[in-house]
Amino acid sequence: MLVLGLETTCDETAASIVRRGGDGPGEILSNVVRAQVEEHAAFGGVVPEIAARAHVEALDGVLSAALSRAGVTLRDLDGVAAAAGPGLVGGVIVGLTAAKALAVVAEKPFIAVNHLEAHALTARLTDGIAFPYLLLLASGGHTQLLAVLGVGRYVRLGTTLDDALGEAFDKVAKMLDLGYPGGPEVERRAETGDPERFAFPRPMFGRAEPNFSLSGLKTAVRLEAERVAPLSAQDVDDLCASFQAAVADVVANRVRVAFRMFCERHGAPSAIVVAGGVAANGQIRRALQRVSSEMGARLVAPPLALCGDNGAMIAWAGAERLALGLEDDLSFAPRPRWPL
Ligand code: KG4
Ligand code: ZN
Repeated sequence: MLVLGLETTCDETAASIVRRGGDGPGEILSNVVRAQVEEHAAFGGVVPEIAARAHVEALDGVLSAALSRAGVTLRDLDGVAAAAGPGLVGGVIVGLTAAKALAVVAEKPFIAVNHLEAHALTARLTDGIAFPYLLLLASGGHTQLLAVLGVGRYVRLGTTLDDALGEAFDKVAKMLDLGYPGGPEVERRAETGDPERFAFPRPMFGRAEPNFSLSGLKTAVRLEAERVAPLSAQDVDDLCASFQAAVADVVANRVRVAFRMFCERHGAPSAIVVAGGVAANGQIRRALQRVSSEMGARLVAPPLALCGDNGAMIAWAGAERLALGLEDDLSFAPRPRWPL
C-alpha cells in the first residue's frame, strides 16, 4: 500500500511517500522536508501568518520532489493523507486542502491524520513494533506519556501541567539569547558546560502520577541567569548543561513511574518509545536507555530525521488507518485542537 502524506501544522512543509506491506516496518520511498527556520528566526518563534504563507509557497515544490524522488505518480497511490491538526490553523488548511484536491483528482481515498497520532505510530514505521507500547511524546507543543494499545487507541497516563518539554528548551534558549528553535542549541552548548554547577530543581520527582511540570525549572534557570549576569559564554554553557541534566533526570523518573503504571494496567509493553522533536536530544535518549535497561524493556527511538515533524509519519499513520478501512470524508475540517 502506497500513501502520500502532507505535513503543514507548524513550521515544516513536508511531503513523503511511504509503503506499508503487512505487519513489520514500512518503507520510506521519499521524505522531503522544507523547514521555515529563516522565516521565523528574527521573531524568536513561529509567526502563524508567515508560516501559512510559506506553506503555500513551498508545498508545490515539496510535493513534486516527494513524487519524483519516490518514482511514483498520483495514479500509483492507494491513498492521500494530510495532518488535519492539532496545530496552527492557517498552515493546516494548506496541507489539508491540497490533500483533498489530490485525492479527488486521483480518485483515491483521503485520510485526515492527527499529527500526534502520527508521532505516536512512527516507531511502527521504523521498527515494526507490536502494540501495546509505552510512548513518551515530547515536542514543542505536547508532552504526554501514553499507553498505545492500537491504532486510534491511546490511554493518557500523564501529561505536563504547564510547559511542554520542547517549549521549556525553547524558552530557556530565548532567555539566554540562543535563538530559535532552542532545543538543538541548548544541547550543543550543554556539551561544553558543567551539569553540576547549578543545582536546579527536579519538579514532580517521585510523584505517583507520571505528570510533568517545567515552569518552576524554567524560572529557576532565569533567576540564576539574572544572578550571574553578565553571562560569559561558559556561564551560558553551564546553565544549559545544568538545565538539561535536570530535564533528563525528570524524564527518567517520570517514565519509570509510567512504566510501572502501564504494567499494572495493561501488562508488559513491547517497548518504551520516544517520539517528537525532543527525542533528538542525546542526553534524554541516554537517560531513557538507562530506564529501559533497568526495566528490562527495549527502547525504540526513531532516527533523528523522523523525530521532528515530517511527512513520512503522516503518510504512515494514513496507511495504518487505511489498512483498517478508515478513510475520511472531504468535508473533514481542520482541527487546531485535537487531543489524542
Ligand atoms: O515535534 P517537533 O519537531 O514539532 C512540534 O512541536 O510538533 O518538536 C519541536 C521541539 C522544539 O521545541 C525543539 O526545541 C525541540 O523539539 N527539540 C529539542 C531538540 N531538537 C528539537 N529539544 C531538546 N534537544 C534537542 N536536540
Ligand atoms: Zn510534531
